[in-house]
Amino acid sequence: MDMLIRLYALLPQAPADTGAGVAPAAAPPVPSPIASGLLRAGPGDPPAVTLRKPIGPEHDLIVAWVGREFGPGWASEACVALGNRPVSLFVAVESAPGDRMPATTQAAAPSAATTTEPAARPGPTPALLGFACYDATARGMVGPIGVADAARGRGVGAALLRACLRDMHAAGYAYAVAGGVGAPGFFRRVAGAVEIPDSSPGPYAGMLRHGPD
Ligand SMILES: CC(C)(COP(=O)(O)OP(=O)(O)OC[C@H]1O[C@@H](n2cnc3c(N)ncnc32)[C@H](O)[C@@H]1OP(=O)(O)O)[C@@H](O)C(=O)NCCC(=O)NCCS
Repeated sequence: MDMLIRLYALLPQAPADTGAGVAPAAAPPVPSPIASGLLRAGPGDPPAVTLRKPIGPEHDLIVAWVGREFGPGWASEACVALGNRPVSLFVAVESAPGDRMPATTQAAAPSAATTTEPAARPGPTPALLGFACYDATARGMVGPIGVADAARGRGVGAALLRACLRDMHAAGYAYAVAGGVGAPGFFRRVAGAVEIPDSSPGPYAGMLRHGPD
């Protein structure tokens, strides 16, 4: 079953084109999910959760993670979204306190005063909590979207979906279609999505699928 989302009804209008050959304003930055109250804090200190688009060195890791967590079909769609320009995939990442660089490593790192390059400090390794993309199954379609089991129920999925919808609206879409929806209540709740009649199997009819070799 596919569902329709009215982007124009959900989101403020994109800034007007100023004309005279000036490109429309870029999509507004995604507000911090914590600051905007989208995420509910877990036990202990509020986690540092960031929503952003990945950079090139992260692509393989993200596709592999999506494949492990959600299967090869979604990994394939993540690949498509990561290949779009601009990239049409968001990740939610969390820096865990335990991921800080150990003190011994810090002491061994060269100081900026003795090198010509800035000291290479790896910093904390963020954990990948979830992803969402659009223009992956087909143009104008939003999803797939997936959040790691342990991170569910904190607003991460809602923040990711809204990031995609905001980006689609800024790119000029009026509607988004969520395809083959497995969690209709989530899309209804977060985005006011409504069922599209006779939409199953919709664009997936006759699709090649992974099966036993
Ligand atoms: C669906 C999914 C992305 C939701 O992510 P999440 O981070 O747990 O969702 P959130 O915490 O942001 O929930 C936002 C709201 O949607 C509701 N919600 C979440 N999952 C829901 C579901 N499966 N059915 C109905 N409502 C749901 C929440 O209760 C919450 O409502 P509230 O604002 O009233 O509290 C996640 O459960 C997931 O990855 N599931 C497996 C993959 C999947 O099914 N993806 C969707 C394919 S169409």
